[in-house]
Amino acid sequence: MTSRVYIFDTTLRDGEQSPGVSLTVEEKKEIARALERLRVDVIEAGFPVSSPGDFEGVKAIAETVKDVQVAALARANQKDIDVAWEAIKKAASPRIHTFIATSDIHLKYKLRKSREEVLKLAVEAVKYAKKYTPSVEFSAEDATRSDWDYLAQVVVEVVRAGATAVNIPDTVGYTVPQEYYELIRHLVEALKEAGLYDRLESGEVIFSVHCHNDLGLAVANSLSALLAGARQVECTINGIGERAGNAALEEIVMALKTRRDYFERVLGKPLETRVDTRQIVPTSQLVSRLTGMTVQANKAIVGANAFAHESGIHQHGVIMHRGTYEIMDPKEVGWTGSAIVLGKHSGRHAVRFKLESRGWKLSEEDLSRVFERFRQEIKDVLRTVHDEYLEGVLLDEFLEDEYRYRVSSAYVSSLYGAPLKPLAQVEVLDKATGAHRAVTVGVGSIDAAFKAVAMALGYRFLGSEDRQPEGDKDLRLVHFHIDAVGKGTESLGVCGIVIEDRHGHRSAGLGKDDDIVASGIKALVNALNRLEAYRSKGEELKRKLAEKAAA
Ligand code: KIV
Ligand code: ZN
Repeated sequence: MTSRVYIFDTTLRDGEQSPGVSLTVEEKKEIARALERLRVDVIEAGFPVSSPGDFEGVKAIAETVKDVQVAALARANQKDIDVAWEAIKKAASPRIHTFIATSDIHLKYKLRKSREEVLKLAVEAVKYAKKYTPSVEFSAEDATRSDWDYLAQVVVEVVRAGATAVNIPDTVGYTVPQEYYELIRHLVEALKEAGLYDRLESGEVIFSVHCHNDLGLAVANSLSALLAGARQVECTINGIGERAGNAALEEIVMALKTRRDYFERVLGKPLETRVDTRQIVPTSQLVSRLTGMTVQANKAIVGANAFAHESGIHQHGVIMHRGTYEIMDPKEVGWTGSAIVLGKHSGRHAVRFKLESRGWKLSEEDLSRVFERFRQEIKDVLRTVHDEYLEGVLLDEFLEDEYRYRVSSAYVSSLYGAPLKPLAQVEVLDKATGAHRAVTVGVGSIDAAFKAVAMALGYRFLGSEDRQPEGDKDLRLVHFHIDAVGKGTESLGVCGIVIEDRHGHRSAGLGKDDDIVASGIKALVNALNRLEAYRSKGEELKRKLAEKAAA
């Protein structure tokens, strides 16, 4: 039996059946092109008879992609198959995928047909589809809850009728890995007994698996079926699909790649796909954006935290040798690198690593000063800490006495339900030029306060992306958040911001206060002080600290 595993992507069919997902034809084409770049073997483009929109989508995809087979779904009847063929007939490599349920519960309540009738319909559908194309897949819907011997009879007859792929779906995500393994073995044996094993061995016919994730076992079940002899896996990007979704493509592909050794040990040869794994993350992000289905941060392979390390011990390990806590290279799946995330669990190693990557070399003593201050500073910060905060703490530690700005007083109004706008009046002291006052309005009280501080000191915040900065006082606010730390209305307001100047230099500011507007003002003044300190003394400080570290 071949060691090649065919990846049948059903993001655009089963994935599109996810509650709340609806893609336009253009969006479907964009995803199909991404799947072609990912080098899946088959794209199931849709269920053409189900709606005119689905028909158009399948047709457009069939006419767009070239280096991948395009499948269209059809129930086991002539009309569905005719419409499916009409939609995919221009594809470079078309496949008709016809299905009918085989479990007694579906036969009794949904189809209201006997086993014999269903068997006949399955065989007729395959023969009918074969008139259009040699590549015909048959799915026995709800296979895992079907009677095994009856299912085997259906499988044998559809293979005799010419099916080239026989899919054994776990439609309701009911099976478990060992049971599914045994079921696939049972079906392989049935083909042997029917004298059809040579078709399986030569790859003329393959068993396919299609697992839903109702018990969180879709990927495990799919891998188990591969060990039993299946050679096609039906899956979706990010695991989207009906209810709890389908087996996640990225997990299947990376399990086969990362545990190549295991499959080789058990089967005598590794299992191979043709997927370009570096396309996994870009494709995942595209699908997430177009479907509106966010990927959970801890999702394997493609989640934002899949390669992020926050605890001190893990960060130290990864900095010394990536393999200590990573079983895959993030670049292999399309990430730009492991993420050492600064947070309250970060240790000295991570702090040193981050500072060095921004050009700061510190002696052990100086590193301790920065590390301790950093720990104090982020104590109340709940979210991930941006790297710029660390540099800001270093500047506080060594240059705070030289900081230029201080807000002496601020009055900021807040409005509810009036046509007027919130007003801010501030007085800011600049060590170099004295006191400056400004009064302005804003969209909200924080906006008014930021505008007033900026105006008083001659800075300008560029709001829209298309306005280009012209001078050193033109800034962009690239990050802003406020957290309430504590309980109820007496919580501490913690504001974190990152600003960027026209040279791309970023400066972070943090402000904490019982009043959230005051925490915002503190964060802004902190960021501006750090920015000006870096501009005037940053390079000199870097040199001095590096000389001390080298001494
Ligand atoms: O889950 C299922 O059984 C299906 C079939 C149509 C293959 O999606
Ligand atoms: Zn399905």
